[in-house]
Amino acid sequence: MSKGSGVQESHQIDRLRLLVDAGISLSSEHSLDAVLQRIVEIAAQLTGARYAALGVVDAEGKRLERFHTVGIDDETRAAIEHIPAGRGILGAVIREARPVRLAEVTDDPRSVGFPPHHPVMRSFLGVPILLRGTAYGSLYLADKDDGSEFTEEDEDLTQLLAGQAAVAVENARLHESSARWLHQLESLNEIGNALGTQIELGPLLDIVAARLRELIRARLVLIALPDSPGALRVAAARGEQANAILGTRFELGGSKVGHVLERRRSELVHEIADDPEVDHDATRRIGVSTALYVPLVVDGQAIGVIAAHDRLGSDPRFGEEDLRLGESLAKRAANAVALSERVSRDAMRRVVAAQELERARLARELHDETGQALTSILLGLKTLEQAVETREGREQVASVRQLVVSTLADVRRLAVELRPTALDDFGLEPALERLVDKHRQDGAIAVDLEVRLGESRLPADVETTMYRIVQEALTNIAKHAEATRVSVLVTRKEHAAVVVVEDDGAGFDTSSASPGLGLAGMRERVALVGGRLRVESSASSGTTIAAEIPVP
Ligand SMILES: Nc1ncnc2c1ncn2[C@@H]1O[C@H](COP(=O)(O)OP(=O)(O)OP(=O)(O)O)[C@@H](O)[C@H]1O
Ligand SMILES: [Mg+2]
Repeated sequence: MSKGSGVQESHQIDRLRLLVDAGISLSSEHSLDAVLQRIVEIAAQLTGARYAALGVVDAEGKRLERFHTVGIDDETRAAIEHIPAGRGILGAVIREARPVRLAEVTDDPRSVGFPPHHPVMRSFLGVPILLRGTAYGSLYLADKDDGSEFTEEDEDLTQLLAGQAAVAVENARLHESSARWLHQLESLNEIGNALGTQIELGPLLDIVAARLRELIRARLVLIALPDSPGALRVAAARGEQANAILGTRFELGGSKVGHVLERRRSELVHEIADDPEVDHDATRRIGVSTALYVPLVVDGQAIGVIAAHDRLGSDPRFGEEDLRLGESLAKRAANAVALSERVSRDAMRRVVAAQELERARLARELHDETGQALTSILLGLKTLEQAVETREGREQVASVRQLVVSTLADVRRLAVELRPTALDDFGLEPALERLVDKHRQDGAIAVDLEVRLGESRLPADVETTMYRIVQEALTNIAKHAEATRVSVLVTRKEHAAVVVVEDDGAGFDTSSASPGLGLAGMRERVALVGGRLRVESSASSGTTIAAEIPVP
């Protein structure tokens, strides 16, 4: 064995020992920064490099997320840190994803020279930090201490260390993303629990907005629900300006949220100023620049929109993952809205049903008690009339009897108006016939009634709804229309019952707010049985009220 090979051997043993020590010390480090700093130090030590640096690019591969150095002062460090990862030799190592070894760094055509304050470096070795095809960054060494260039062995060792760095970075990212997943699960869980226990919609949507804002790190999250026809209202808001915009109303048309509601599709907007659908006055007022829109959809229908603005941090744009999270929370919020609407509809339905019951009770009482009492009085008066001897006395009794007769008629009419027994006992058609008859008698209007319902009866609540619509429509015609002809058409389609009441009267402006309760009540009743009401009116063609109610 020659002397030279003995020196080489002991040198190799030193390196091996260093490497083993490095492995041990690395596995005992916990923070990623400490591990990476150790790796640069070990790399410098093992290769005899005067300068060493390790850069990790962020998950999008755009910027340096971490930067560790050896042998470089702070000023130089800061200068290097600001170098875009795509330029010069450093960029080439990442871009080409293979080692670069140079005797004179400035001789290489890829070199762009050194930034100000940067020490002049000669020999250079850069290796990418790679794991399973993903480039996490690179490890650079410069100026081998004996003035020579880096060897192939240096390159192998550095690659080994770069591999360790890759594993450390990947572990940290995995840990980060599992922590993020855990947080997402917690949020979804919390919303799920709130859905089960919280019945009020406002606080529920508030939880959804708050959690989404946390999860996607948005500056502002709001939830808008349709308010009056053609308008939306901010039902929940979290983040900057939240208090200022909570409860504000805006037009459906001319707002981005309105478009999203219509299309029922989520959307990422990277630059609000460039989007022609956005109401720029409104977004300027709250000073936001990017957005994420997700519609709340239940049974294929859009019932609201979640909007998030400005991701916090260096890049305000939202990404696909944010969109996915938004959609998953939107699903829950949509269910909450649907549930709360169902609950309030149920409550309303119970009120209306109770009202009908109470009316039926009053009608029965009027008919049975008051009506019977008046009838007995009538019979008594008849007997009395016969018994009275004087003509004057008989006439007085007769006029009282007449009064009782008309009161009895009033009571009967009132009872029928309250709740026609015919509706319960014989069905919609006879009840409508009576109603129409009464109107024919009362006014000088020709009322045409056509009922085509077939054999089977409609569900009781549908019958009541249709009866009340015709009743209110005819009352309105008598009160407001000055019509000469009225037609009432009641038909049954395959899955719906339809009622249309038309008059040739004066008409009215349907766009101005109704002063009364009649039309609003009609609308409410029709909505309760899942139907639609259409009101058309003009001075030239009179008024048409049409309701279509689904029937199973
Ligand atoms: N058939 C009609 N022809 C002309 N105008 C009508 C007709 N139906 C309704 N209107 C107009 O619409 C308005 C609203 O009707 P609605 O039934 O809601 O209220 P109302 O009849 O005035 O009061 P209420 O029904 O509460 O007693 C009426 O005041 C009337 O001006
Ligand atoms: Mg009315």
